[in-house]
Amino acid sequence: MSTQKILVTSALPYANGPIHLGHLSGAYLPADIYVRYKRLKGDDIIFICGSDEHGVPITITADKEGVKPQVIIDRYHEINKKAFEQFGMSFDNYSRTSLPVHHETAKEFFLEFFNRGILIEKKSNQFYDDRVKMFLPDRYVEGTCPRCGNEQARSDECENCGSLYDPSELLNPKSKITGETPSLKETSHYFFPLGKYQPALEKYVNEMNEKYGWKDNVLQYCRSWFKDGLKDRAITRDLDWGIKVPVDPPAGRAGSASGKVIYVWFEAVLGYISSTKEYSQKQNKPDHWKKYWQDPKTKYVAFIGKDNVVFHTIIFPAILMAWNESGKEQYCLPQNVPANEFLNFEGKKFSKSRGWGIDVIDFLKIFDTDPLRYTLAANLPETRDTDFYWKEFQARNNNELANILGNFVNRTLTFIHKNFEGKIPGRVMGLGDYEIINSTDSEMLKTLANYPIKVSKLIEKYKIKDATLEIMNLARKANQYFDVSKPWETYNSNREQCEITLYICVHTIYTLAHLFEPVIPFTSQKIFNILNVKKTSWNNCGNPIMQAGKKMNSANILFPKIEDEIIEKQMEKLETTKTPEPKPEEQISYDEFMKVQLKIAEVIEAEKVEKSEKLLKLKVRLNNQERQIIASIAKSYTPEEISGKKVVIVANLKPAKLMGLLSEGMILAVENSEGNLEILTVADSVKDGTRVK
Ligand code: 2FM
Ligand code: ZN
Repeated sequence: MSTQKILVTSALPYANGPIHLGHLSGAYLPADIYVRYKRLKGDDIIFICGSDEHGVPITITADKEGVKPQVIIDRYHEINKKAFEQFGMSFDNYSRTSLPVHHETAKEFFLEFFNRGILIEKKSNQFYDDRVKMFLPDRYVEGTCPRCGNEQARSDECENCGSLYDPSELLNPKSKITGETPSLKETSHYFFPLGKYQPALEKYVNEMNEKYGWKDNVLQYCRSWFKDGLKDRAITRDLDWGIKVPVDPPAGRAGSASGKVIYVWFEAVLGYISSTKEYSQKQNKPDHWKKYWQDPKTKYVAFIGKDNVVFHTIIFPAILMAWNESGKEQYCLPQNVPANEFLNFEGKKFSKSRGWGIDVIDFLKIFDTDPLRYTLAANLPETRDTDFYWKEFQARNNNELANILGNFVNRTLTFIHKNFEGKIPGRVMGLGDYEIINSTDSEMLKTLANYPIKVSKLIEKYKIKDATLEIMNLARKANQYFDVSKPWETYNSNREQCEITLYICVHTIYTLAHLFEPVIPFTSQKIFNILNVKKTSWNNCGNPIMQAGKKMNSANILFPKIEDEIIEKQMEKLETTKTPEPKPEEQISYDEFMKVQLKIAEVIEAEKVEKSEKLLKLKVRLNNQERQIIASIAKSYTPEEISGKKVVIVANLKPAKLMGLLSEGMILAVENSEGNLEILTVADSVKDGTRVK
C-alpha cells in the first residue's frame, strides 16, 4: 500500500494560561491519536503546533498581573510545552508566534494582499471606553448575543451559538475594563473581503464534505454562517501587542497613537505554516515545509475545538484561496476539520477564575499519563459536550485498564513465566507447525487479523472514542479466550493445546500493544519491553508473527489501582477551591409581581425639605386622589424640574416617615453612569392613576 503525505495541525493554544483537560479533549488528544495511528500505518506525516502569543487574551492576563505581555507568553509557552510533553503529545514541532519566522510569514501574506489591492480600507465602529480612552478589542467587551441571548457574548462573536455579528448589534455592551457601557467610535481598518469568497468557500466545504465526510457539527456551523452571509472582516486592530501592520496605517485613523497590529486570527492560522518552516530550519532543510504545504497530494487535517470552527473552515481557507489566486506557489487547504465539542468538568464549564477544573500539569503530578489519556479518549466530546468526572476516571483505570487490559497481560505473562520459563510457547514455525487448531483458536486468530482494519475504519472517520472502546473490547475478548481455553487445565491434559493457547495470548498482547499505542503510548512501550520485541506496523500487527521460544521479561503491574481516598481527596479539593457561583436572580411569579401596584402619578407640587440635601417633598395626584411622597432626589432634580412630570410610583407601599414627614409611596428612578438619578416618566397623554403592568 502506498504511503500518504499528511499534515496535521492542532489549534495553537494562547500562551496566557495553563492548558486544562478540556483543551486536551478538544484539539490535542484526538490529533495525537490520529497521528500516532498514521505513523504506525507508515504514512509520511508531520504534526504541527505551537503557542499563539498575540491577541487580547494575552494582554488581558498581562494587565491583570501588571506585567508586560512578553512575561506572560514566556511563562506559559514553557509551561504548556512541558505539559504537552508529559501528556505524550508527539508534535514534530511546537513553535511560537512571537518568532521572527512567524512575523515574516504573516507580513508576507498581508503585503501580498495589500499589494494586490485585495484589502479594503474601511471605517468601522468599534467599542471605545471613554474612561480609559481606548478602543476595546473584541474580548474586552461583553454583552448579550443578538441571536441567542447568551449574556456573555463577545463584541462581534458568540461562543454559545457561534454567530458572528457587527459590534453595533451586541445588546447591553459592557467594557470589561471599567464595567461602563462603551460608546461606538469610528476607526479605520483594513478589511479582508470575506464576502467575495463566499461562493468559493461554499463550494470548497461541499466538495470536502462529499469527498472526505465532514462532521455534522462542523457542517452545521459552516452552513449557518453561509446562510447569514459572510461579511468582510477587519484584519487590523488598534492594539500595541502583536505583529505591526507592515504598511502605513489606514488614513484618518482614530486608533491608539501607538499603532495598529494585524488581527490575531489572521496571523495565528498562518502560525501553522511558520511552525512547519521553523521545523524545516531546525532540520537544516529550509524548503522541507513546502513538501507538505505546497503539494496538492498532501492530506491536511486541522484539529480544533468548536469555538475555532469559523477560523479554520472559512477564514483560513479564504486566506489560502486569496494567496493561491496570485498564481504563486499553491497552498493546501484543510481537507478535514474534525472539530470537537467541549469537555466540561464534573457537570460545569472549566473555569480558572472560579477554581473549577484541573490543569494538565497538576493532574500529572498525582496520576500517570495513560489513565488520563484513556479516560479522555473513551469520552471525547465528538458529537456533543461531555464531562470529566473523577469517579469515572477511577472506574476507567480500575475496571478497564487494570482489570481488563492489565489483568490479561499479567495473567498471560505470569503463567508463561511459571510454566514455560518465560519463553514464548509454541514451535519454531509459530502456529504453522500444529496440525489441529480448534475453532476457539481460529476464531480468535480471525478476530486478531481483522481488528486493525476494524479500528482503522473508525479512526479514519475521526471516531476516536469508538475506536478506543473497540480496542478495549479486544482486551475483553482476550480474557474470555483465556477463560474458555483454560490453559491451567490443558497444561496437564493437553500440553500442545496449552502451547497454542499461550502463543495466541502473547500474539494478542502484541496486537493490543500496537492498537493501543496511539491511545496509551507509555503503556504500549512497556508492553513491548515486556514482550522483548520491536514494533511492526499497524497493518501487520494482527498477524501471528511472534517468534516462539523467545525469552520475555516479567510483567509488572501496568495500572496500579486508584484508591477511593485519592479520588475523594481530589473531590474535596475541588469543593474547597471553587468560588461560589453568582446567584441567579431570584424569580418571582406573575402574581407576586402583581402585588406591587405601580401607577402613574402627576407631580403637582414640589419643595425642598428643610435641613436635608437629599429630600424633596412632593404632592402627587392619581385618580383625583392626592398623596405626599418624600423622595431622595434633591441632588438630581430641583422642585421646578420635577413639577408637572408624570412619574411612576409604588402606590401600595406602606406609609413611612422620613425626617418626621409622612411618605405615602415611592417614586421609581434609575442611576445613570454619572451617578445621578433619573426619574422614570411617561408621556403627558397617559392618565394619572393608570396601572403599570
Ligand atoms: O482558541 C485559541 O486558543 C486560539 N489561540 C486558537 C488558535 S488556532 C490557530 F489559529 F492558530
Ligand atoms: Zn449567541
